[in-house]
Amino acid sequence: MSLPAVRGGFEPFDVLDIEGYDFAFDDIPNLHELFAAARARKPYAIVPFLGTRAVLFLTHDLVTAAFKDEESFPASAIYAATTEPVLGHTIQCMRGAEHRINRKLVVPAFRRKVVTEQVEAILEPLAHELVDRFEARGEADLVTEFTHGYPVRVITRLLGLPMDDEERFRRWAVDLFHFPMAPEAAERASREFTEYVTPIVARRRIDPGDDLLSTLACTEAEGRRLTDEEILSFLRLLFPAGADTTYLGLGNALYALLTHPEQLARVSADPDEELEWAVEESLRWEPPVGLLPRVCPAPVRDWQGLGLDIPAETPLIFAITAANRDPAHYPDPDVFDIGRRVRPTLAFGDGPHVCLGTWLALAEIRAALKVLLQRLPAMRSVEPTRVRGLLGTALRGPESLRVRF
Ligand code: HEM
Repeated sequence: MSLPAVRGGFEPFDVLDIEGYDFAFDDIPNLHELFAAARARKPYAIVPFLGTRAVLFLTHDLVTAAFKDEESFPASAIYAATTEPVLGHTIQCMRGAEHRINRKLVVPAFRRKVVTEQVEAILEPLAHELVDRFEARGEADLVTEFTHGYPVRVITRLLGLPMDDEERFRRWAVDLFHFPMAPEAAERASREFTEYVTPIVARRRIDPGDDLLSTLACTEAEGRRLTDEEILSFLRLLFPAGADTTYLGLGNALYALLTHPEQLARVSADPDEELEWAVEESLRWEPPVGLLPRVCPAPVRDWQGLGLDIPAETPLIFAITAANRDPAHYPDPDVFDIGRRVRPTLAFGDGPHVCLGTWLALAEIRAALKVLLQRLPAMRSVEPTRVRGLLGTALRGPESLRVRF
């Protein structure tokens, strides 16, 4: 993807607020410190992005307002360029009535009640299965041996797809995720996945079961059902949107707890009370979707009274990572404290495209942590690790989680 250089002649764009990194490509090790320093000066920053300049929103108020302002910063403008070629015309690429109707058609499969009733039965047994594979060794890398495989398997089981093929799904998920860097592998994965799943969709239309794919095939809203292509592109989206995010979210929760043993002890002592708050706080402290890129198709004048005029085609970055540590919203924001009891954070976005899988993701992370704490009560880190950026800085998660137990 190439975006035109920003040439507004407006003063803010002439001066970079953060230099030395390209936010589209680079893993930035001291991201939180850079953001805190920039936010202390002003609520947004002009940063290098894709060889040009982007406006990055740094405060909770601005990121919230930006998510809600589909008029100025429609999600469709960026996703049409970055994901549509390989995933198809997903709901992320839609706006207005098309988006509203498509969401109505997929939302029933993700309601809190459905997640609680249908999904939770899958989660803990799956987490136990994964722990069974390494428990006897007394040590493991939880990234390669647990967090990476868990959410893809949740999705394939929810869809009612054959469990024997879970390894293929995992490979397709990885290839789809790497589309911007390796388009050929992603396109091949998209083709293979489509060929695999098309006959299954046809069968579920005729003979529905109680799985998520049947719900997608049969739900009606505003007098219509999802077309085959709408189902297929939604299924393709589920892997990058639902699996990669959750795997990193679970990794960040484990990273937070392993690096704060006193908080880990607090959760272990009373998981029924503390676990859900540990998950919420880890999603605030280190959100897996850190920096969401957008672009504004038309010029935006004096947005939010910032005195900032944004020329057409300017890239923008919704910095959830920065918003979730905004001191105006969270006292002592750098402290990981499960006693904060705050919900919701911006980890799942906001506005019309807010995450559809929020309940599922929370249930997945809670179930995985519950099983890991039960089965590996003496779990501790044996090697320093760090949260790093994937796909530039867009997504963030730990590079490894080597533990002994
Ligand atoms: C911790 C895990 C997760 C995080 C942090 C997360 C985060 C997000 C965010 C920030 C957005 C908004 C994107 C934007 O505005 O451009 C989003 C959208 C979305 N998420 Fe999630 N997500 C997670 C898990 C899931 C799961 C488990 C699923 C489903 C299986 C899912 C499905 C979706 C879908 C379909 C959208 C697009 C909604 C739309 O465009 O209307 N996500 N997610």
